[in-house]
Amino acid sequence: MANKNRRPNNKFAKLSLNNKTFKLPIYNSTQGESVIDISKLHSQAKIFTYDPGFTSTASCESKITFIDGDKGILRYRGYDIEELAIKSDFIEVVNLLIYGDLPNKEQLIKYKKLISRHTLLHEQIINFFQGFRRDAHPMAMMVGVMGALSSFYQDSLDINDPHQRQEATRRIIAKSSTIGAMAYKYSIGQAFVSPKNNLSFSENFLHMCFSNTAEEYKISPILAKAMDTILILHADHEQNASTSTVRLAGSSGANPFACIAAGVSSLWGPAHGGANQAALEMLEEIGSSKNIKKYLSKAKDVNDPFRLMGFGHRVYKNYDPRAKILKKICKKVLNHVGIKNDPILKLAIDLEKIALKEKYFIEKKLYPNVDFYSGIILRAIGFPPEMFTVIFAIARTAGWTAQWTEMSEDPIQKIGRPRQLYTGNKSLKYGLKRSKKNTR
Ligand code: SDX
Repeated sequence: MANKNRRPNNKFAKLSLNNKTFKLPIYNSTQGESVIDISKLHSQAKIFTYDPGFTSTASCESKITFIDGDKGILRYRGYDIEELAIKSDFIEVVNLLIYGDLPNKEQLIKYKKLISRHTLLHEQIINFFQGFRRDAHPMAMMVGVMGALSSFYQDSLDINDPHQRQEATRRIIAKSSTIGAMAYKYSIGQAFVSPKNNLSFSENFLHMCFSNTAEEYKISPILAKAMDTILILHADHEQNASTSTVRLAGSSGANPFACIAAGVSSLWGPAHGGANQAALEMLEEIGSSKNIKKYLSKAKDVNDPFRLMGFGHRVYKNYDPRAKILKKICKKVLNHVGIKNDPILKLAIDLEKIALKEKYFIEKKLYPNVDFYSGIILRAIGFPPEMFTVIFAIARTAGWTAQWTEMSEDPIQKIGRPRQLYTGNKSLKYGLKRSKKNTR
């Protein structure tokens, strides 16, 4: 068994409790914060740490993605997101995230072929879609069909077999795009369009969504590049809610398709990946710049549950670097599709300008995040808001599978099982004491 204390440490934190002092090892990172190892704290001191939302808790060691929230830095395996967005493509980034370094030319050509070989779905999976109402949210189909894949690809379920893990990863990435496109076609009542393996990943997704049996969709290189950049920007993001969900599901030994279905479910929430749909719907509700002040007051009102969707972030206390890139792409895509002076983009820019001058947003360090501008681009490409989070999920299969693979290969990996601060009833005898409340 690998050395439990895998990181040599010569620094300790001291905790004084009940007249005892506990030495807690400190491990240094290569970048960003160090960590205090509290894994032995309960056995030594019979006490838990308490951190709802894990605001100060590192759940694992990882080499995949680094974020500096104060400086607005995002790196995949050490490469700045700004450079990857311009110079790389989505499948190369997938390979980088999973294998840890950039593939050479031959490796990339081979990997793209391997992924394209998995874009087809078993024909019987079509029946799963027939079970959904036509107005089902496409994310409901993503969750259901992704989980169902485990019953069709039983030769890639053994998480202890590196070959099966690799095969499952490729299937998940390739088929997520086909499932996403099928969910869109089903929701608009059009026949499914098969993937074409001579197209790039992003071109293929646009083809499966916008071609139909009567005519081929003419793929614009500008829109294909915008799509590919959006996938790169959404590929991974350290231990966010959906990735932590995938890791926790994986820690029990659940099969990879079930773990990714759990990640899709978590991403769907409006506080997470669902924010791109919510942000566009919010902008449409605000309608015009003259209403901005009213909505900013709602956002600042502690008694009002309204939040500025696409704003704020647990880690970024500066401008989300992905939002900066997306803001630049907006204008290019809108011009390309002939939308001059889009009122929604103008409103988003005005809203950002006014919000960033408000004391509330400055003090709480709330900036636009990845979800603030992405919907404007996706709508211009032709997607309805319900598809925005599906596209986020397709991209994030790269990060989810990379993080799941890293967890599966981590020698000290164990089932995730947090504890709690219990404040419920002490021991009671079963008897006549019954609730007096008449509502239940
Ligand atoms: C993603 O984690 C990731 O990396 C996620 C992600 C990824 O790539 O995986 O980056 C993708 O999920 C981006 C975030 C998308 N969500 C939204 O845009 C929804 C709107 N944003 C908020 O719900 C919020 O900012 C969160 C959920 C993103 C972050 O919430 P936190 O870290 O729990 O912060 P918080 O809620 O404690 O906020 C701190 C303060 C609070 O006020 P106080 O309690 O201190 O008085 O800021 C306020 C919040 O009320 N606040 C907002 C706000 N976001 C935070 N007030 C108004 N509008 C907002 N958007």
